[in-house]
Order: sequence, then structure tokens, then C-alpha cells
Amino acid sequence: MLIENYKSAYLASLEAAERIATQISNAQEKNENFVLGLATGSTPINLYQELVRMHKREGLSFQNVHTFNLDEYCGLRKTHMESYYYFMYEHLFSHIDIPTKNIRIPNGMLQENDVHNYCLDYEFQISELGGIDLQILGIGSNGHIGFNEPNCDVESITRKTELSQSTRNDATPSFGRLSCVPTQAITMGMQTILNAKEIYFLAFGEAKKDIVETALTKEISIEVPASFLQTHNKCTAFLDQYTCIKN
Ligand code: F6R
Repeated sequence: MLIENYKSAYLASLEAAERIATQISNAQEKNENFVLGLATGSTPINLYQELVRMHKREGLSFQNVHTFNLDEYCGLRKTHMESYYYFMYEHLFSHIDIPTKNIRIPNGMLQENDVHNYCLDYEFQISELGGIDLQILGIGSNGHIGFNEPNCDVESITRKTELSQSTRNDATPSFGRLSCVPTQAITMGMQTILNAKEIYFLAFGEAKKDIVETALTKEISIEVPASFLQTHNKCTAFLDQYTCIKN
């Protein structure tokens, strides 16, 4: 795990975006696809903004990019402002030239009978493209990655899962009331995430300071799913002035 401390979340996001752009362009020069795993939430917003800026001002093209989002709430339509589908179009997809067919966001509106095959197909699509080249990740205040909550299965793949009480509490301000926060989500699994060839883990702000320290410097435990990032052979942590870890 490579730990990189930045003076601010903004500077960390610019650097991550710059490196992603370079990887996309390098793949383009070789006529190759670039498979990008995406996160939602407040953490990657500046990163997406910078990618949009590079597309508009510097001609960065996303024609060769395929994306797979980490997760989606169950029961929210695409038009719901808290759905991750809505988030992704608002912050990234509406502003870049990625072909629509290259965008994959888990469908949270499936019939129960369809969930199992849908999740297997999500995994199949990832492997058919040769795996995820780069996965962007944030961390929940309880240490979750994607919606892999504490004490989930380390071997898990894409599936439907229950959201923990603390995750639902954290989401309450956005939804207005706890009762409006979905109880379930479709998420890539721990194995899906850890199989990515490279991971950019972004964690910013005072509220994340303790959980980041626990995840990155303490023992690896499924009570803190993000601690398994320590086992990945190409994971870079982009930290800010609050979450920074001194060597
Ligand atoms: C979102 C996701 C979550 C978030 C995490 C942090 O797609 O998978 O694991 O990364 O909940 O959210 P923020 O960035 O809002 O603090």
C-alpha cells in the first residue's frame, strides 16, 4: 500500500485525476480499452470535476473507457436524486464523451428473482473486459468499501446486501429521514474490488481520520473491510491534511 499525504482533499483529487487521465490516454495510444471502477459519495466529486475539466479544456477523451460502478441503492429509480445513477450522470457521465453502452451501474430496481443472475452477469461483464484496470474507492465511517459492511464475506462477489445501521444513519441527512434511507443495495463484493489490477483509495476529512488510521495501519480484520486493502499489491491511498498518516 502506497500512502500519499496531500495538503488538501482538492490537491489529492487533482493528482488522482491527472494519473487517471494519463492511464486513459496511454491505453488510447495502444488502441486499448480502459476499465474503470467508480465510486459515488462526496469523496470523488472533485476528482470527477477535474476529469470533466480535462475533457472540456484539454481534449481528454473517454471513448475507450468502460466503467463499472461499485454499488446502487435498492428501490430507488434512476431519476431519484439520491440514486447513484443520478449522481454519476450529474457529476461525470453527462459531461464527457463516454459511449453510453460502456457505462455500467448496478440496477437497484430488480425483481428479487432476477438479482442472482444479474449480479453474476455484472461479474461476467467485468471479466469479459479483462478485469478492472483501476478501481476508485472511498471509505464509509464504519470502514465499508462499496457497500461491503463490517463482517461481510471477504470472498464475496457482486450481490444484494443489507446496509448497516451506521451507514443508514450517515445517509440520513441526504434523504431527510432515516425511514427514507434504503435498507439494501447491490454492491460489488470484496473479491470483486480486491481483484482490480490497481486501486486508488481516497479518504478525506476529520471525520474519517480514525477509521483511515485503523484501516491502513492496524491489523487486517473483516470488522473493518477497508483494512483488506493492505493485502492488495497495487493500492495507493490519497489522503489529506486530516487523514494523513506519517511514516
Ligand atoms: C459509494 C461507496 C461508498 C462510499 C463511502 C464514503 O459508491 O461505495 O463506500 O465510498 O460510503 O462515502 P463519502 O465519500 O460520501 O464519505
